[in-house]
Parts: sequence; C-alpha cells; structure tokens
Amino acid sequence: MTANELRQKYLDFFKSKGHAIISSASLLPENDPTVLFTTAGMHPLVPYLLGEKHPGGSRLVDAQKCIRTGDIDEVGDATHHTFFEMMGNWSLGDYFKQEAITWSWEFLTDSAWLALDSKLLAVSVFVGDQDAPFDQESFAIWQGLGLPTERIAKLPKKNNWWGPAGQSGPCGPDTEIFYWTGDPQTVPSSFNDDNPLWVEIWNNVFMQYFKDVDGNFRLLEQKNVDTGLGLERVMAVLNGSDNYQTELFWPIIKRIEELSGQVYNSSPEITRSIRIIADHIKASVFIIGDQKGVSPSNVGQGYVVRRLLRRAIVRAGKIGIDVKNNISWIAELTSAVLSIYALTYPELQDNSNFINEEIIKETEKFQRTLENGLKEFDKLQVNNNCLSGSDAFRLYQSYGFPLELSLEIAQERGWRIDRDGFFQELQKHQELSRTASAGKFKGGLADHSEETTKLHTAAHLLLAALRRVLGDHVAQRGSNITSERLRFDFSHTEKMSPEQIKTVENLVNEAIGKSLTVACEEISLLEAKNSGATGVFDSKYGETVKVYTVGRDNGQNQATWDDIFSREICGGPHVNNLRLLGNFKIQKEEASSAGVRRIKAILE
Ligand code: ALA
Repeated sequence: MTANELRQKYLDFFKSKGHAIISSASLLPENDPTVLFTTAGMHPLVPYLLGEKHPGGSRLVDAQKCIRTGDIDEVGDATHHTFFEMMGNWSLGDYFKQEAITWSWEFLTDSAWLALDSKLLAVSVFVGDQDAPFDQESFAIWQGLGLPTERIAKLPKKNNWWGPAGQSGPCGPDTEIFYWTGDPQTVPSSFNDDNPLWVEIWNNVFMQYFKDVDGNFRLLEQKNVDTGLGLERVMAVLNGSDNYQTELFWPIIKRIEELSGQVYNSSPEITRSIRIIADHIKASVFIIGDQKGVSPSNVGQGYVVRRLLRRAIVRAGKIGIDVKNNISWIAELTSAVLSIYALTYPELQDNSNFINEEIIKETEKFQRTLENGLKEFDKLQVNNNCLSGSDAFRLYQSYGFPLELSLEIAQERGWRIDRDGFFQELQKHQELSRTASAGKFKGGLADHSEETTKLHTAAHLLLAALRRVLGDHVAQRGSNITSERLRFDFSHTEKMSPEQIKTVENLVNEAIGKSLTVACEEISLLEAKNSGATGVFDSKYGETVKVYTVGRDNGQNQATWDDIFSREICGGPHVNNLRLLGNFKIQKEEASSAGVRRIKAILE
C-alpha cells in the first residue's frame, strides 16, 4: 500500500462513519502563543474541543502535518521524527469510547481495510489516579472485542494520558494500540511497554478534562474523542520495515547514500546519521514551505529551522558528503523531499523557490559561521588538553557550533571537552530562557480570555485597514496574541511611514467608534472566496468554513451587509460588537523577515 492509499483509506473509512474530511492546518499555530508548532492533530482543533462549533459538524477526520522538537534527541532511532503526519478522527461531543475503540479495531484488523493480524496487537488503558479514575469502560470494550486480558496493560498518567498541548487546555485518559514488530512467531502472550518491539501506532484520547495553568483538572461539558494514528509507523508496519525504508523517506535516503558513498544499515552510527539528515531536511522543508512559511533566524520557529539545518549539515559532513565545496547536495535533498510530498501538500510546490533559496542561503551562512568558529578555536587556551565547558558553550552559543562538532574538532587536536561543564552551562541558559518564555506565554488563546478574544478581533480590523492603506498584496503571515498585546506579521516589503501607521490606526478606531457588529456564518469555501473574504484558501476537500464579517447588520445575508469593514475566514472566537474593544494603538512597526513586516499593537 502506498502512503497516499493509506491516507485515503483512513479518510474513506471515517467518512463511511459519518465524518467530514478536513484539510491539514498550517504547522504554525494560529493565534496561539502556547506552542511554537502544531504538535498533534488536536492542536488546531482546540477551540472546538472546548465547545466552539466546527463548520464540518461534530465528526471530523484528517491527516495533519506535525512537528515535534521535544523528541529531537530520539530522532535517529527507527520510529521518532521531527516532522510526521498524524491521521486523526474526532468526536466533538458526539460519539465516545465504544464507537472510537470499535472503529479503530475495525480499521486495523478488518480484511476490507488494513487487515493487520489481531494476534500481533496489544493495548494499554489508564490505570487511574487522584485526578481521574481507572478507565474501566475502555478496558471492558477491549475485552469485548476479544483481546486477551494479558494484552491490555493498565498504565499511569506518564503513559496513558494525553495533553494539554501547551501549558493548559483540554486533555484526558487515552488508550494506545501497539503492534508487534518482531518475528510474529515470537510474539509474547502479554504486553510489556518496555519492549521496543511493541510499537505504538494509534492513540485514542478521551478528552473530557481541562487542565488550567495552576495544574487543576475539571470536567469539560463536552466529551470529545481525539485520535492519532502515525502515518510513518503504519507504513512501516504494513511494509515490515523500519519507518525510513518506506517511500516517505527512501528517496531522500537514496540521495544521501549516493552523495556520501555510504550505505544505509551498514553500521548503527551511519544509519543514525543518515536518518537524522533525512529527518531534519524534511522538517526544514515543511516549516519553510508551510502556507505560513518561516525563514531560518535567531528566534522562535526560525531558530528551530536553523538548528535543524545546522545539525543536518554537520552530520552530512561527518559521513562524507562534500559540504564545503559543493552546495548542490542540499538542493538535491530538498528536491527529494518535494518529490515525495508535492502532490499531497501543494503549498510545498507553490513555495519551492522560496524553500530552495532559504535553504541554500542558510547553508552558505553556516559555512561562514564554521570558518569563523574554527578561527575562534585556534585562539582558545586549553588546560591539560581539556577544553572547558564554558568555552564549548560559548562556541555553541555565539558561533553556532553544536557540541558534537566541537568534540570532533577537539579530537583532531588531541583534546577532550569538559562535557559536564558544557551541560551545566546549557542548563543554566535553558532555565533562564524557560522562565522568560513562561512569562511571555502567560495566558494564551487556549483559555479564551476576554482580552485575547478582543485582540483577535482587533487583528481582523488591522488586516483590513492595512489592505486599504498599503494595497491588496497584504496578507497575514502569522500572529501571536497574549492577553496584553497583539503581534501581527504581514507581507509587505517596505517600512511603513508614520502617516501610513497613523491612517491604519485611525481606520481601525473609526470602525470601533461605529460599534459595528461581528458575526459568523458557515458557508462553502467557494462562496467565501467569491464573496471577497480574505484568509487561507488551501482546503483540499472543499469543506465548509467559518467567515467572520465586521459591518452594519441590515438583517440580510452577511455578504451584503452595509459598511463591511472586514470579512475573513477564521475559526474564531470573536467579540460580538466592536464597541467592546476600546482604543487601538500601534506600538511598533518593524521588519520580521524578508518581505514580511511586523506590527505590535494594544487595546487601551
Ligand atoms: N493527541 C493524541 C496524540 O498526539 C492523539 O497522541
């Protein structure tokens, strides 16, 4: 089965169970300061898990692009990736455990679908603790499906609880499904989660709690199902191979083999390096080529891309790719990624020039960084042939030298590095930045506080005003809202003049002064487009979307309201009337990255 067939089978299966198919959201979360990337399929759906109505209804199914940087040190084994696709089916206050579990089982084992051998499957359920009870119901459903009791493990929160994705948000107990990837003849009668041959392929989360920022759990009014079936892992199971030997990686690996002269699986170290290079380049291509693409930089999401690319470049040099003299290797790997995904994710094709330019620019820049770092290396004072932790950390911090690169250069000179010292410095630094970001990320849209909702509506007004003043080329490139302020990125090449800034501010405040109404309607994407709504139009399934209109309600259809100030595709939530907003003030206008400007604004 090809990956495209598998994805389609999954969508079709849940469509046959009354689910609406929805497109993958961006990897860069919309209006949510609590995480840098979309880490799971549930993430773009948080408002709906909390009770907001979804235009597709209460049963949804999708395959969502995800980035997880928390697992980055595990990348290199057979099953962890920075970028992966999570297939998911959702119940928004509709069905619950019985249907969710029964359907998972049917999809995996029925001969009409994946036809996996049920004797090679095992599951785990939540054992219960002070926050929530033992999940007796799931346990009984699995037994009813014929799973032997020894194959149903009862495990604690560490294993069988999911969420929230950020600091606070929806979460709940889960039941996980594992597949035996060892020799089928040796499948153990009982399940043991310490045995790595049992690979988790599917997680069904029963999302019925909300965890607040103080760590308290309360029951949600709406009981939801959130599931995640890993596309790469299921492909591997169906092929009887590791994830990297499937068509989702193999074309990249083949190129790496050719460029380096190495052979995948020739030694554990070579295999690990090849996997890391393939994984990191793929993730970089997806982040840069996203519908809201990001360039490598020194902050936030851009910094993650920079680190991924640098780690890949260092590894590439290590296994013999000529990274110094020939920049084309990286373009070849980029195009291998595009060859796998361009049809499934058209944004990659649309942005292919941008992806190539950014990746090549970054690779050249890193080459220069390396040269400067090497000069710095030559100046270092070394005691007893041991480079101090603080010097190694300075090379890392100021010259972008990953520790493994410093180790290698040190080795060539017959030096050691005080690794403990390095990690102590790193930890000190991480603690500092964690405290800083905890402050920065206080609040967040996940809690839907009144202030963030107001600023979200202000973001729509700002976009509409910018388009009037600067032109229709202005599109939103990202936003980040806390309860204190709004940060808004948009496509525009020149610095705004003070007059332009003032005019934008005035336009927004005039709209607020008129107490215009904000209302939502659910229409097809095509209708939205034809009625002049702004927003992302990359839906593949022609699903229904929500459109928020700001204008004067004349009792007619919203597309024909009087005095329409803004009309935008968006998930919400928003205030009902602009009179709630107060005075809008732009505090700063600055460059964000090439061709993108950034505004910081508040409501007073
Ligand atoms: N949100 C669940 C997960 O990511 C399905 O595993």
